[in-house]
Parts: sequence; C-alpha cells; structure tokens
Amino acid sequence: MQPISRRQALLLGGLGAAGTAAGATGMIWALSSPPDPVTGAKLVQPQDQRSADRLLQVRLEAAPGQILLAGKQAAALGYNGGIPGPTLRVQAGDVLKIKLVNNLAQPTNLHVHGLHVSPEGNGDNVFISVEPGSTFDYEYTLPEDHPPGVYWYHPHHHGTVADQIFAGLFGAIIVEDPDPIEVSTERVLVVSDTTLDGLGNIQAVPAMERMMGREGQLILVNGQSNPQFTARPGERERWRIINACVARYLRLRLDGQQLQLLGMDSGRYPQPETVDDLLLTPGNRADLLVTTTTGESALRAFHHDRGNMPGMMGSGARNPTQPDGTALATLRVSGEQAAPLAAVPALKGPENLTSSAIAARRQIVLAAGMGMGASGMMRFTINGREFNETRTDTTVAAGNVEEWTLTNTSPMDHPFHLHVWPMQIIEENGQSKTTAVWRDVVNVPANGRVKVRVAFNDFRGRSAYHCHILDHEDLGMMGAIEVR
Ligand code: C2O
Ligand code: CU
Ligand code: CU
Repeated sequence: MQPISRRQALLLGGLGAAGTAAGATGMIWALSSPPDPVTGAKLVQPQDQRSADRLLQVRLEAAPGQILLAGKQAAALGYNGGIPGPTLRVQAGDVLKIKLVNNLAQPTNLHVHGLHVSPEGNGDNVFISVEPGSTFDYEYTLPEDHPPGVYWYHPHHHGTVADQIFAGLFGAIIVEDPDPIEVSTERVLVVSDTTLDGLGNIQAVPAMERMMGREGQLILVNGQSNPQFTARPGERERWRIINACVARYLRLRLDGQQLQLLGMDSGRYPQPETVDDLLLTPGNRADLLVTTTTGESALRAFHHDRGNMPGMMGSGARNPTQPDGTALATLRVSGEQAAPLAAVPALKGPENLTSSAIAARRQIVLAAGMGMGASGMMRFTINGREFNETRTDTTVAAGNVEEWTLTNTSPMDHPFHLHVWPMQIIEENGQSKTTAVWRDVVNVPANGRVKVRVAFNDFRGRSAYHCHILDHEDLGMMGAIEVR
C-alpha cells in the first residue's frame, strides 16, 4: 500500500462536507478532478511465465484491488493483482493451460487474442461465461507451425468487455521465434488507457463516449505514465508493443532511434522493415527492433483522425490534437558504443493467398445506424444486425479460402477483428497490395472498403468477428462464425 497523497486525503476528507453542503454538484466536481499522474518512474516489466517441456500452466485470478496505476493506488481490476497481468511466453507446439479464477462481482471469461488455436470446448471459446466466484480451466494447443509474434489475453464476456479492459484486465502472450534473434534487451510495452476520478476509482463512461469509443485521460505503458529506461548506443532492443486501449488508435513514433518492424500481429516479415511511424488500431501489436543512438527519445502517440458519429460535427471529439503527441515512455541512450550483434536471421515469408482458389466471397457491412434502440444508444451493426449469441451469422466449410469485402458505411473507422483465423489484406480502398500483409485486426476506414482473404484451415468450431473498438463490440457490432 502506498500512503494516500495530500491531495487525495483532502479530497477524501472534503467529500462528505462537499456532498452535504453542495449536494450533487460538489460530488461531481470532486469526482471529475484531473488524474495527476506520477511520471518518469523506471519502466517495470510484467512478470514472465515461461513454458517448459512443451507446457505452460498458469492461474489467472481476475479480481478488484488497490493496484498501482500511473504511480498511484487505484481501485481497479487486475489479473493476479497486476496491470498488466503476467506475460505468458510459449513456443509453437506448446500446450497452454490457464485456470481462470473469477473473483469479480460480475461474469467474465478469457480470450487469447490472435492465437491460432481451436475455438471449441475449453479452448478459445468466447461463448463461455465464468460466473463470479467460479473458475474455468482453459486449454490451448498451439500448432507445431504456429507463427511467432506478440499476442494478448483479455476478457470477452459480451457487454462488459470494454469496461473490464478499461479497468485493467489484459496481459501479453509471446510466441517465441523458432530461431532466436540476438538482442541486448527485450521489453514488453502494453499500452492501455483509462480515466481515474479524484479518488482513484475507474470513472464510469457516459453513453456518448461509448458510442464514439471511449478514450481514457491517461495513456499508460505497463500501467505507468511515461516511464523511463536507459540503453547504450548501438544496442539492439526488441520491443513488443500491444495496443490494449478500448478505442484509441496509436500512431507511434520514436524519433532519433532506428526502428525496424519484425512483424505486426502474428508472424514475421521475411526481412525486418525500416519504419518511421506505425499505426496500431485497438488490438494490433508490433514486434519492433530498436537500434539505439545517443540521446533522449520519447515513444510518442500522435492523433489519428478516426472520424466521428453520423450527424456530428468535427472529428475525434475528445482526442486533443497535440502537435508533439503524448509521450508514452522515454528512452535515454548514453555511454560507450555497444558491440554489434549478429544479423537478424531471415525467415520464410508469410503465405500468400493472392492466387488461391476462392471458394466463397462475402460482404461484411459495418454500420452505425441512426435509429436509436431501446437503450437510447445508436445501433452498431454488422450486415444490419446486432450480435445475438444464439444466431450463427456466417457458416464456412473447413479447408476453404474465402474472400471477404469489409465495407464501412459510417463516417468513423472500425478496426475489424476475426478470431482464430488471420486475414490477408488483398485490397485497401481500391488499391491492391503487392506484398502479403497479414493482420488479425484490419482497419476499415470511414466510408472505406478493404478486401481480405482467409484460409479456414486446421480448426473447426464457433467463434466471432467484431469491431475492436470494444464499446462497439459490446453495443452489438459482432457476429458469430462457424467453421464446419
Ligand atoms: Cu481482442 Cu474478440 O478480441
Ligand atoms: Cu481476438
Ligand atoms: Cu467500431
């Protein structure tokens, strides 16, 4: 426990009086005071849990608690008391067993985002509900050829996904490379956002924010506000970056350092790709090499215009456009030049479905409807319908390659996510891709169109696709798919 700050003590002490004297107004003032984060602490890494002899067995307890967020105690939700939860490190061919313990006051469950594993039974089955006070034993078997990369876990109980993630329930999964890449340091950087009130409680989110997709006032890396770390010049670091924000897009830059992308979402590029910036939609991950140069560099998140709701003026309502972006973490490079490391081993490029026979073509239409439902919310639909757990929207024959046209008829971006089976981007707003680009979350721009191809190999079973602005998912922008 950290001692309560003077400011917090004042707020706590003053709340009763303000509440009585000023009534509701006093309460609202106290509850909406700015979060005042502690910045500049040393970057902390979530605890690693590594598989041995082809097995990783972990217990994940989802529970409320006093958890350090932005350097202060917050009443949040965590896995095993931390935000993020432990980092799970596995290899292709491993079995991952997770005992999920639900000590929340509401149902939850677990999803292993991006892993190519079975969605059936006690696998990556998002239709399971784990009730408060109960446990569930998940078991995932990674195929022998599972792509290496950065993945993550989070709850997937329809209706509360955004709230549970916003409150702190997420963690990293790393599938290690078959041939290790030599690096001086590896860092896991889980980026999340949330809003705390003056008492350190996670703030409730109004309906309007949910429809737009909530963006928290604090952008955190491993639960910290602009943490710092150091390196020597000429070092090669590997950063595993996860966008665990409910709705915020991250356009990232790290000026002054050399960046090479090893891959995005799952798999590796055949050669590392030099980049200046990268866009991570909610759910996306980057596997990045940073070759260091003397100086101070901040990893900055810049504004991405993701449009607005129909009938609304302006854009990115509560996303202030700061020309310098927001510093997420700061790297200081000084000292003696490090000895060069061995070249990055080449990898067999990803599969390419451009010349595959297409067994079926489908239209997936993402829409934000003007008709308000009974809840007073705008309707967020896929092919005109809101999610219904008992309905299967898409039935696919196992073994087929399909082409899906993702059409966004709304004036805001939607990041489209398909579970279990990654998507190859074939065409984006009329432009064909010349190289094989794979993602498990694909941004479909406002009023835009993206064509993807999916190889429904290996696994059968029922799973889901949805918008990874998780407020939209909770509001119904999700469909069920069955491969049989
Ligand atoms: Cu990270 Cu169904 O999603
Ligand atoms: Cu997922
Ligand atoms: Cu959306």
